[in-house]
This record gives sequence, structure tokens and C-alpha cells, in this order.
Amino acid sequence: MRLILNKLKFHLKNNLARITILLMTVFVSTAQSAEKKVLIAYFSVPENVALNGVDAATGASVLLKNGNVVGSNQYVAQLIQQQTGGDIYRIEAPFEYPDTHDPLLEFAQKEKRTNTRPAIKTPLPDLEQYDTVYVGYPIWWYQMPMIMYTFFEQNNFSGKTIIPFTVHGGSRFSGSIKVIQNLQPNADVVTTGLAISRNRIDSEQIPSQVSQWLNTFTKQ
Ligand SMILES: Cc1cc2nc3c(=O)[nH]c(=O)nc-3n(C[C@H](O)[C@H](O)[C@H](O)COP(=O)(O)O)c2cc1C
Repeated sequence: MRLILNKLKFHLKNNLARITILLMTVFVSTAQSAEKKVLIAYFSVPENVALNGVDAATGASVLLKNGNVVGSNQYVAQLIQQQTGGDIYRIEAPFEYPDTHDPLLEFAQKEKRTNTRPAIKTPLPDLEQYDTVYVGYPIWWYQMPMIMYTFFEQNNFSGKTIIPFTVHGGSRFSGSIKVIQNLQPNADVVTTGLAISRNRIDSEQIPSQVSQWLNTFTKQ
């Protein structure tokens, strides 16, 4: 009888140890996934326009924020970065895009016509550390700039949440969210992205509009 009791105690102890280890593993892995960070990736080409001491040139994609010249999508990316504490990554080609309007229009039109995939200068940081990626870009000729196709074709966002945003000249997303869904079928692409007209990008309301929009993702 005593032998049986001892065996029972031994099994109980062993199982308790196993359960404790299992619970600790679950706890640690949950804590690790809760630690995953936010990445903000953006493409933006600020145009070289005289700002005459004001914060923005009418209808142009350039702003002066805290003494720095920034593009309109760059500005929204920075607001998202400040408000989420995420990491920021600029999508850049190894060459300079024209910084005046008409040459840029022509350059972008040629890229589109020839279905070019401009190279990306710096690789993305390791995506393993992120579960949410905000992606911002202008609309060029009714679609994403061609370098955004390179971006979505070169990187694998499976299992990540992609949250698009754009500052545009009137076309809003112009069907680009659907394109991202097709290029990243295993990502959760949020369809309630933020589209801001460049005509009001310098409005004082933009920072609070961005934070209200961000709250829709953090307050579930
Ligand atoms: C080459 C080019 C093509 C554009 N085509 C469109 C367009 O088709 N639809 C639209 O709404 N805006 C269009 N725009 C306006 C840009 O989307 C807008 O200026 C945007 O804010 C620029 O963003 P950025 O300053 O971050 O580069 C175009 C701008 C450029 C330079």
C-alpha cells in the first residue's frame, strides 16, 4: 500500500512539474509575441519647391516640419512613428527621382509604361520582429509608384498585418489596396487605410486625424 502511495506521489509531482513547464512556455511565448514591434515603411519624393517661409507649397508634395523639408507621405509616416513608437524605414531607389514636377511626372509615366521594377537601396529590417507594418506611398498615375511593386514582390509579409496609408492628389487609394492583397495573399491587408488629400496635408487637424485613425487599431 505504501509503495502504491509513493508511486502515486511521484507521478503527481512529475506531472505537476510538466504542467508548470508547459504553463511557463505558454506564458513566455505569449509575452514574446506581445513584444512584437510596429514598422512604418514609406516612399515619398518631396518636390523641390520654394516654400517662402510657409509650411507648405499650395498643392505640392512638400512641407516644412520642425525646420525639415519632408514629403507628404513622409510627414504622415513620421506622425505614425511618433504616435506608435514604431521603427521607421524609408523605401528608396539607388538613384534620385527628379525633384521637379514635370520631369518627375514624365519619369514616373515611363516607369509605369515599361512596367519597371526599380531596385530598392536598403533591405528591410528583419520582419520577424514585427507583426504590423504600416505602408505609405503617393499615388502616381492612378496606381502605386512602381518601386512599391518591387517592395511587395521582394518581401514576404505572410502572417503580418499590413496597414496602408496614402497622401494623394484626388485619386485616394485608386485600387492599390486590392493590388497589395494580390501581391501579399498571406498577409492581413487592412482595407480601412488612411487616405489624405495633399490639399489638406498641412492642416492643423492632420495629427489628430492620424491619431484617431490609429486608435481604431489599438482599441479593440
Ligand atoms: C508622377 C506623379 C503622378 C501623380 N499621379 C497622381 C494620380 O494619378 N492621382 C493622384 O491622386 N495624385 C497623383 N499625384 C499626386 C501625388 O499623389 C501627391 O502629390 C502626393 O502627395 C505625393 O506624395 P509625396 O510628397 O509623399 O511624394 C501624382 C504625383 C506625381 C509626382
